[in-house]
Amino acid sequence: MEQELNSLRGTALNELSEITSKEALNDLKIKYLGKKGLLTGMLGQVVNEIRNEIEDIIATKLEAMKQAELSRKLASETIDVTLPGRSTELGHLHPLTLTLNRIKDTFMRMGFEIAEGPEVEKDYYNFEALNLPQDHPARDMQDSFYITKEFLLRTHTSPVQVRTLQSAEPNQPIRIIAPGKVYRRDYDATHSPMFQQVEGLVVDENISFADLKGTLELFLKETFGNRVNVRFRPSFFPFTEPSAEVDISCVMCEGKGCRVCSGTGWLEILGSGMVHPRVLEMSNFDPDKVSGFAFGMGVERIAMLTYGIDDLRLFFDNDMRFLRQF
Ligand code: PHE
Repeated sequence: MEQELNSLRGTALNELSEITSKEALNDLKIKYLGKKGLLTGMLGQVVNEIRNEIEDIIATKLEAMKQAELSRKLASETIDVTLPGRSTELGHLHPLTLTLNRIKDTFMRMGFEIAEGPEVEKDYYNFEALNLPQDHPARDMQDSFYITKEFLLRTHTSPVQVRTLQSAEPNQPIRIIAPGKVYRRDYDATHSPMFQQVEGLVVDENISFADLKGTLELFLKETFGNRVNVRFRPSFFPFTEPSAEVDISCVMCEGKGCRVCSGTGWLEILGSGMVHPRVLEMSNFDPDKVSGFAFGMGVERIAMLTYGIDDLRLFFDNDMRFLRQF
């Protein structure tokens, strides 16, 4: 018995000395000390001594393995606390959004509300109800994307005038701007097939051309600075009568004449006019009781002039080197 135990002890210690992994250590523990282990169930002082001896060696080995593992981790996972931190890059609004926000802000301070309409529009709202019947030559001013005979991508924000009139109580006052995307078949440095406009419509009793002039002059001075000169030129739109093209003195050369204003000293900035009586009538407003004015401007053009940008396509390229400048 004594001899048997001694050789069992010898084998165990021998096996133990060769073990290098935690798993093997665990296996050995089960083999000798587990429920059905070789030293389990035996009784006597010597058995206990051997069992304690093996347990001690296992504990020591386990501790050494843990230490080694920790050192290895510490060596391989070093953190250089002197490295610069990883910061979150903060974005900002697109220059066109900034421009549109400024336009909205100016008109909202003058008491205008914001109206919206669909980009896929009915021919009726885009042309017909704006006094542009089928085959009217003025339809050629705006090359359109038709979807069906009845639907097209709106060529301007003016259909929102009609929608606003028709959803309002007839002859009640209206004071809205309508910002939004519009679509025309154009593409070069100053034209994009998609661009943004801001429409304006004011209707009330006794609205005159003086109201139109005062409102637009105030807007243009707020936008381009008090030194800017404003000029109204007779023009034609089927939905306004009389109609006026509005120019500002060139913001690049202050009216002296340069490349941007083609030497004229003036920049065309928006279209406007008194709402045509036919337009009011077709939408159930009585032109003998109320009158109104309307205007429309291009957001990209205003942004180009504000920031001194000479190619409109830069707005849509999403080149970070360009966008970071705003
Ligand atoms: N809708 C016209 C255009 O896009 C602009 C305009 C709006 C003119 C309102 C007069 C009144 O060219």
